[in-house]
Amino acid sequence: MMSQCRKPVVIEDPLQKYIDGLSQQVPAKLDPHVYHTAHVAYNNVVKTSKSQGFIISGESGSGKTHTTKVMIQYMLQLAAKRNRVAAGVSGAESTTIAVKIENADPVLEAFGNAKTRNNDNSSRFGKYLQLFIDVDTGAITGAEAKSYLLEKVRVVQKATDECNYHVFYLMMAGLNATRKSALHLDGKGLDYFKILNTTAVRDEEEDRLTFTKLEKAFGVLGFVAETVNSIFQVLAAILHCGNIGFGSETNASLDIDDASLVAAAQLLGVDKAELRDKFLEGGIKSRTPAVAHETRNALCKYLCVGAVGFGTLHIGCFVCSDRKVHKRTRTDFSQVRLRLQFHRRKGE
Ligand SMILES: Nc1ncnc2c1ncn2[C@@H]1O[C@H](COP(=O)(O)OP(=O)(O)OP(=O)(O)O)[C@@H](O)[C@H]1O
Ligand SMILES: [Mg+2]
Repeated sequence: MMSQCRKPVVIEDPLQKYIDGLSQQVPAKLDPHVYHTAHVAYNNVVKTSKSQGFIISGESGSGKTHTTKVMIQYMLQLAAKRNRVAAGVSGAESTTIAVKIENADPVLEAFGNAKTRNNDNSSRFGKYLQLFIDVDTGAITGAEAKSYLLEKVRVVQKATDECNYHVFYLMMAGLNATRKSALHLDGKGLDYFKILNTTAVRDEEEDRLTFTKLEKAFGVLGFVAETVNSIFQVLAAILHCGNIGFGSETNASLDIDDASLVAAAQLLGVDKAELRDKFLEGGIKSRTPAVAHETRNALCKYLCVGAVGFGTLHIGCFVCSDRKVHKRTRTDFSQVRLRLQFHRRKGE
């Protein structure tokens, strides 16, 4: 029989030990740890004013993302300690920057991470993170995260037991009925949407909680409600686009009142007939269902990159140091809408 009063195993985080130990004139003898690596790099920047870099590599599930978070957390705490005694950035300001840096993760991971066979939170893109340190005060004054090479194909195609990007499941679990209705998602489960359908097990309650964290993170990073709603509109449009079929005849066909087409067109702010024609017509020749399907998939991938700002749009670029840059982040998001309006005008 199992014991009723098992004590939880408490593993002490040695972070404070490294912060205190390594600041001494003669450092205490400490075990090898990424805290040590982060400490040495931070000190080198402050002492020499020269940039330091880490390359964190390894196979999927080996702990790259976790290690990155641990190192950033360590440097934030180390900088906060130094900053308490240094002039320059006030304590309140540096706390705000630290909170913003921490809140970049929920956003980056919602849009760029997915459940795979190897890792429930696998990053499907490359990341280049920069921390900016004021060498006079030791304060961390900003951060920037650039994302590269998002695995776009996952939006429309994934292996058995794997999932699409977290954000789709989070919004399905976390949006309330009114917001879902505005996105034509009400009354529809995960299995309704072909690109979400998965044999992998998902925890709806956990997705709901993660969605709450995502919305909070959007707020902390300065995304206004209108921007967040535009992002969800584009994501919902991708879900509806993924459900559009083109028949089995030689020439692709699509009913003008197809529910998925109507919903996608409305969410993208484009005319449904124009959108249908773009799927069906390839120059002077009509498309086969397979080619129309490919065209539809290409649009889903393009919208996904645009909606979340991977690649050239740099939307996933969070510089947390000043208002001017926040404005830039919002401007980048609004470029997605501008592009959509461009499509409407050009009929692309
Ligand atoms: N040092 C650690 N202590 C405790 N848990 C860890 C540690 N390193 C990694 N993990 C856990 O292992 C799992 C995989 O780690 P992580 O997501 O960081 O891998 P990854 O290298 O980024 O993989 P991918 O390439 O798929 O993104 C996570 O659940 C993470 O919390
Ligand atoms: Mg990772």
